[in-house]
Amino acid sequence: MRMTKNTILITGGAGFIGGNFVRHLSAERNVRLIVFDALTYAGNIASIADVIDGEKVIFVHGDICDTNAVQDIFDRHDIDQVVHFAAESHVDRSILGPRAFIETNVTGTLNLLMAARAKWQGGEAGKCFLHVSTDEVYGALSANDPAFDEQTAYAPNSPYSASKAASDHLVRAWRHTYGFPAIITNCSNNYGPGQFPEKLIPLMILNAVEEKPLPVYGDGMQVRDWLHVQDHCEALRLVLEKGVPGETYCIGGANEQPNLNIVHLVCDLVDARLGRTSNASRALIRHVTDRPGHDRRYAIDITKINRKLGWKPRFAFDAALGDTVDWYLSNGAWIEAIRSGEYLRFYDAQYSRRLEGEK
Ligand code: NAD
Ligand code: DAU
Repeated sequence: MRMTKNTILITGGAGFIGGNFVRHLSAERNVRLIVFDALTYAGNIASIADVIDGEKVIFVHGDICDTNAVQDIFDRHDIDQVVHFAAESHVDRSILGPRAFIETNVTGTLNLLMAARAKWQGGEAGKCFLHVSTDEVYGALSANDPAFDEQTAYAPNSPYSASKAASDHLVRAWRHTYGFPAIITNCSNNYGPGQFPEKLIPLMILNAVEEKPLPVYGDGMQVRDWLHVQDHCEALRLVLEKGVPGETYCIGGANEQPNLNIVHLVCDLVDARLGRTSNASRALIRHVTDRPGHDRRYAIDITKINRKLGWKPRFAFDAALGDTVDWYLSNGAWIEAIRSGEYLRFYDAQYSRRLEGEK
């Protein structure tokens, strides 16, 4: 971390990546963490309960859309750095109901930028607003296109990615107009412990375990670039420590995989762990109606962060996917706690017609 003790505001710190990041940083000596999270359906305080001690790690239940609550956090704590994870993050939900994405991802980010700037104005030394964004802002690649990098033009295709792109543009404008000390990171798909089971990997693990259909969108040949969440957290820690304000850093796994490959790997891992016959889980795969506007391929070029900050991914995908399966097999209480009625309603809206009507 930068020199003396830092107070870091972590928004969305009870979510998947934010929670892993809180755990990652809580081992550092010179930090005080203020975790600010609305505990939406995707937030789970249980993910970080053991590191919250009210001193080094403080939890504040609040909504980034609430200007007074955001202002209050900056008034009560002398915040040096912000790591902004809080967002509506699921593409399928953004297609079913885009408004919450604009409210949280755009207006919520605006509230944070305004409060941070008002506090830091004139004393920006050592201050940093790290905006955690996504590779989806760059749109979709064809099979032979080069990977996205920091120069790639924005072309978001879903309500989710449009809302993230809008928030990136606000952060960029704050830098350009006000000299605000902001950094943006654009990362590819994360996997690992604590991911909400609406996302591909945990959804497939849990459905395979429960012998439910495995809904693969379209032909399943869409490509994603998978990165272990702890590799992402380490990249963010380095960006916070050594990144240059005003810069953007692309973060990725250098690990492109078609979705069907991932589903096959998950099936085989679950079968092996549960002592089932080979191909038992693969028999549950159903090709269902594709996601509207589905981006065909994402890939990230990590040259800049590798050269400038010395970061590269460390987790080996096959072994770490096995560990991820093990995590879901041994954390039944965590899973039950987050599968609320709201999630069951979403699951029904998202999948019931697809699974009944399709091939
Ligand atoms: P997540 O959905 O698991 O967690 C989001 C967290 O934000 C939850 O704890 C939720 O309670 C909180 N939150 C939501 N709305 C809020 C609000 N209005 N006020 C305060 N807190 C609120 O998301 P994630 O997968 O951990 O993603 C975190 C960030 O990283 C997001 O900004 C996302 O766009 C970005 N990102 C995610 C991935 C990925 O693969 N998951 C990849 C690249 C970037
Ligand atoms: O690329 C980074 C992004 O990765 C993040 O910004 C998002 O927050 C995160 O949710 C993720 O977006 P994706 O849309 O790529 O992730 P998801 O897990 O929803 O889907 C991964 C791929 O799997 C995608 O091509 C859609 C497909 N899929 C997903 C689900 C949930 C299926 O085929 N079936 C499914 O049931």
